[in-house]
Amino acid sequence: MLFIKKHILHKTGVHMKLTFKIFALILIFLSPQQFSQVKAGADALGTRKYDEYKTPQFCGSSCHVDFYQQWKQAMMSQAYTHHWDEIEYFELAVPHAEKDEKVAEVKAGCNGCHAPISFLVGDVPPPKPEMKSRANESVSCDVCHTVSGFEGDTPYNFNWISEPGDGKTKYGPRGTGNSPEHKIIKSDFLKSADFCGTCHNEMSPYGIWVKSTHLEWKEGPYSKEGVQCQNCHMTQAEGYTASMGNKYPDAWQHLFHGAHDPGKVKGTIELRIHPDIREVEPGETVKFTVALFNQKTGHKFPTGSVEDRIVWMHVEAVDAKGNIYHLPVNKKGFEGEDYTIGADVLAYQDMGIAKNDPNFKGVQRDGIPIGDRIFRMAYFDPQGRMTIQQWNTASLGVDYRLGPRETKLEHFTFNLPDKVAPGEMKITAVLNYQKLVKPVADFLNVPDDEEEIIKVNEHSTYVTILP
Ligand code: HEC
Ligand code: HEC
Ligand code: HEC
Ligand code: HEC
Repeated sequence: MLFIKKHILHKTGVHMKLTFKIFALILIFLSPQQFSQVKAGADALGTRKYDEYKTPQFCGSSCHVDFYQQWKQAMMSQAYTHHWDEIEYFELAVPHAEKDEKVAEVKAGCNGCHAPISFLVGDVPPPKPEMKSRANESVSCDVCHTVSGFEGDTPYNFNWISEPGDGKTKYGPRGTGNSPEHKIIKSDFLKSADFCGTCHNEMSPYGIWVKSTHLEWKEGPYSKEGVQCQNCHMTQAEGYTASMGNKYPDAWQHLFHGAHDPGKVKGTIELRIHPDIREVEPGETVKFTVALFNQKTGHKFPTGSVEDRIVWMHVEAVDAKGNIYHLPVNKKGFEGEDYTIGADVLAYQDMGIAKNDPNFKGVQRDGIPIGDRIFRMAYFDPQGRMTIQQWNTASLGVDYRLGPRETKLEHFTFNLPDKVAPGEMKITAVLNYQKLVKPVADFLNVPDDEEEIIKVNEHSTYVTILP
């Protein structure tokens, strides 16, 4: 608007005085806020005050009791306090950002998604979780319910726009229902996957997509069918959305269950294994094929913090006498395949930057049986070494993850030893998932639950060994 007015002023000199008067009048009637555009993403740093946002306890103690208790159990409420987040931020990211100009922005930037209100207030780095500051609220009710939209075409790097108004404005999916506490503005944006994408897509300072859950979803089958993130992570059920409010047939539950809910992870991939021949003699060869079908995720598996996660398949044969044989996967021969097969190699040397150890040798890359197939995408630092520091990622390796509704086939060739016991031999394929590769978890003293092995699925088949 400012621009148009100026334009008129220049063109029509005769009406200049009059126009100026009108302009001045408009200025008086509009508040200064309406002229200053609300900042988003990195530009929003330090533009707000804490008292513009309500605490989650305030929202949840008497009105939204159920949603509050659901949220408390989800990672959303722990995005800043969770031990692994604390370790990665304070022991790796902050010291690294202070040494390396290229990644300096992450000292503030991590908080844009993990402690958004502290970021908006400019309280960075925020006090450590033990100080119990407002950073501990993590991704709170008011982080999401003050978002009016996002800036640009692609949601990523916290480019949501926060408009808390007078502290009493909430954006919600319905726009119906009255609240004695606050105004409710109907928002279609909140119902969209784009909203989630503002934090679930991340680009590193090197311009690499290091988190792309929303982009994976967008190019997959679910987006085309109109299935949003909310349909799987905020499922709907009959109930109340506030203690004294209306009952709805389809209240959006605040579950946000993902990698930290073993029940969500289990069964994500279905496995079926079969041999190419049922009866064999010692010394002969059997070929097994495993089909892995991703029936549950709306994005790739694993997704999100892909640099941390490891998904691997272990195949073992047990003969009639109980002897166990580990079957390594057959190589397919694609570029970068080495990173998708368990090996005895070192990686993650770039942790040495933050740890003040330039000659840091690294730790074991996988921590799983050698020869097992890994479903992952490797992240590389500027020196081409594999990294778990997504902010220090300058390139990506081959993407060998399981896409939504994708089926991958893996092959195993077993040359039966002469001493194999005659009778029935059972061959089992197990797919395992770990949130953080064990050698890194051990090195950084991350609590055990982060390296817990979750069995995603398993399946067995049989062959008969002839005498
Ligand atoms: C990560 C973002 C996020 C957080 C955190 C969050 N919400 Fe929501 N909330 C949403 C979204 C998205 C919807 C609408 C879902 C849809 O329509 O698809 C919603 C819907 C609601 C609704 C309306 C539900 C309905 O069915 O009409 C209420 C009330 C609500 N949230 C309250 C809360 C409270 C209270 C908290 C904190 C305890 C909270 N929200 C935390 C994103 C969030
Ligand atoms: C303001 C940023 C932000 C927005 C918006 C946001 N998230 Fe998140 N979300 C996070 C962060 C940060 C975490 C990671 C918490 C942790 O583990 O430290 C997370 C974690 C999750 C998890 C749990 C993953 C696990 O490991 O268990 C799920 C599921 C999830 N988000 C879904 C959603 C959905 C669905 C939406 C949209 C309705 C959404 N998020 C919107 C920041 C956000
Ligand atoms: C069709 C259902 C479905 C849809 C749609 C879906 N998800 Fe998921 N999501 C899952 C399942 C199942 C898991 C558990 C397995 C896993 O960890 O990938 C999961 C896991 C996650 C995780 C944890 C991943 C990890 O390894 O830490 C996050 C974060 C997440 N989803 C966010 C989203 C976001 C954001 C969207 C929308 C862009 C979305 N999901 C869409 C089913 C879905
Ligand atoms: C654009 C938003 C965004 C930024 C910026 C961001 N994160 Fe995250 N972070 C997330 C989301 C979303 C998840 C959850 C993904 C998932 O569940 O796989 C997550 C997950 C994590 C996890 C894994 C939690 C777990 O238990 O598995 C750690 C640790 C973490 N972030 C640390 C950081 C650090 C340190 C920085 C800064 C260098 C940072 N994040 C920057 C959005 C972000």
